[in-house]
Amino acid sequence: MKKITYKLPTELFEIFAVELNGYGFEILERNENETTFAIYVEEDEEEALKDAVNEIFKDLGAGELLEEKFIPEENWTDKWKENIKPIEVPPFIILPEWEIYEGDKLIPIKIRIGMAFGTGLHATTQMVLKLLPKYISKGDTVLDVGTGTGILAIASAKLGAKRVKGIDIDETAIEECKVNCWENEEKNIECVKASPKDIKEKFDIVLANLEMKIFRETFKDITKLFKKYLIISGIFKPTEKEEILKLIKESNLKVVDELSKPEDEDKPKDIWFAFVLKHNYD
Ligand SMILES: C[S@@+](CC[C@H](N)C(=O)[O-])C[C@H]1O[C@@H](n2cnc3c(N)ncnc32)[C@H](O)[C@@H]1O
Repeated sequence: MKKITYKLPTELFEIFAVELNGYGFEILERNENETTFAIYVEEDEEEALKDAVNEIFKDLGAGELLEEKFIPEENWTDKWKENIKPIEVPPFIILPEWEIYEGDKLIPIKIRIGMAFGTGLHATTQMVLKLLPKYISKGDTVLDVGTGTGILAIASAKLGAKRVKGIDIDETAIEECKVNCWENEEKNIECVKASPKDIKEKFDIVLANLEMKIFRETFKDITKLFKKYLIISGIFKPTEKEEILKLIKESNLKVVDELSKPEDEDKPKDIWFAFVLKHNYD
């Protein structure tokens, strides 16, 4: 068996993966610019695979072969899956779509490995998942701004929200949100390409795991969309915290809860913050 390693600009990877139907990938490294991945082939399929890859790279105008290596025979379909483990963020457990949760203490959320943000690994997502059960009530309506994979929308539905709308400006995210809702058998979630300014109705709960630069443009619009609670995340370091607190005050809102989590344990100063907000008049 051979392991062939390639790299591609991340924005083109999904198109590539769809075009090269029928092969399994192991994603070795992925950031917003570049995705490095391996394809495992039997030797008698090698030439056909390389031709197919080169053809797609030519169409895309990008892509590079990095390495070819013989590897001992083993089941590659299971091998790449070994790298992707369930993540526990109580009360949830986030699983790749092929895993089945046998327990009964946690609420399973299945997320397909794709391109959109929201695998459950990031501190900003995890803080919203932790806050949600405390503030959502059965029967609430929920708007998830910047839904990505739909992870927070699905979590809301699993906690009993009667209707959930996930919005994102990224078309890929909307497609992945739909696939993940289907994987989780959640029929009361709508995944729609939209920005907060496009939304005309109000929701009991609004979730927004965005970035400070997006909050600068959208915060005022977002604040018009909630009735009970607005949960925001994606605020990085004390300087951004100070800036968002100013925006919160100017918008006549108050902080009722707050969480923080370092980016990783080695960098205790790189802290992410999440806030639960209410209207001042409540
Ligand atoms: C940090 S990700 C959050 C994904 C997911 N909700 C989570 O918590 O893991 C932010 C998402 O917001 C989307 N986004 C950026 N600007 C937006 C806007 N103005 N309106 C709606 N979505 C936006 C991005 O495309 C991205 O999918």
